[in-house]
Amino acid sequence: MRDWKSRPSEFRRLWGYSVGFYGVWVGHVGRRLGLFEALSKKTMSANELAFATGCNKKAVEAWCSAAVSLGFIKSRNDRLIILPKMQEILLDSSSPDYLGGQFSYIAGRSLEYSGLQDLFKSGKTRDMSSTFEAIEQATDWDHHAFLAEIKNTRLHRLLAGGCKLLDVGCGTGTMIEKLQARYPNSKYVGVEPSKTAADKASLLSIPILRQDGESMSFEDEFDIAYLGESLYAAADKKRVIANCFSALKKGGTIAIVEGLLPETDRGPESQLIMGMQMDFALQGHSFMKRQEIKSLLSEAGFQKIKFKDLGGSLYLVIAIKE
Ligand SMILES: C[S@@+](CC[C@H](N)C(=O)[O-])C[C@H]1O[C@@H](n2cnc3c(N)ncnc32)[C@H](O)[C@@H]1O
Repeated sequence: MRDWKSRPSEFRRLWGYSVGFYGVWVGHVGRRLGLFEALSKKTMSANELAFATGCNKKAVEAWCSAAVSLGFIKSRNDRLIILPKMQEILLDSSSPDYLGGQFSYIAGRSLEYSGLQDLFKSGKTRDMSSTFEAIEQATDWDHHAFLAEIKNTRLHRLLAGGCKLLDVGCGTGTMIEKLQARYPNSKYVGVEPSKTAADKASLLSIPILRQDGESMSFEDEFDIAYLGESLYAAADKKRVIANCFSALKKGGTIAIVEGLLPETDRGPESQLIMGMQMDFALQGHSFMKRQEIKSLLSEAGFQKIKFKDLGGSLYLVIAIKE
């Protein structure tokens, strides 16, 4: 029998990708069905876990065995335990180490990957509208990272004092919801082209305009224009940025949160965004680079362009309309 250590390193690396696939699904299922949540309240046997979550006993047994083997949970005397750090990584979207949303994004989006065949054969793409549940899971962390980054900055003071923010490509409105809770003195307007997302965002009691960033026609109205992972999706990025410039008052700030391709190889940290290029290609989009955003902003007339690395290839780009 061949010893694992004698396998070539290429073999072991690719084997790890297969295990990673199951890791993503164990993580996603554990989150979505509340298995991790239940274990975070008390230790249980697999049977008790099935009962507590209303799930099928055999399926939960298989999940527990996989989750123990893949290191998500521990088993001690047939009792299952999830350690505090693992709870934070899987369940706490405000933690800088949060990965749970990413697993749920990848698992949710992969349900669309049968479309890759058409993409490669005929270039046919699929829009993202059936995967907003997955998108919400991924951008939840972005929102917390943005809110943590602006703490003690001018943006925080503006929002706390009461200003007007435009969320371009607001999706289902989950960022505005967080902003409203944290900064109730400010006013919010969302712009969103997808009907599925705009309908959900409209449940918030604020104006949500069903249009794209290219067709906005605001003038000197907002203190902040926020674009959370939406610029990559715009067909005419130049127009969107020019419209944001017009929408802002003098002294206003544009804040763009985007995953950006690395200029140089950053090892495992950049491998995720490199791999995710296939996911974006299926949507008919691609990730941008720093230089592309910089040119778009300066051509529109923005100044004081700053990039803040939020980790995991996600950036906050800030610029001012002086
Ligand atoms: C990845 S989602 C992000 C949603 C939201 N900003 C968030 O942070 O959760 C990208 C959003 O951009 C929207 N979008 C696509 N094309 C757009 C365009 N041309 N102008 C504005 N938004 C657009 C999509 O409908 C989608 O809601």
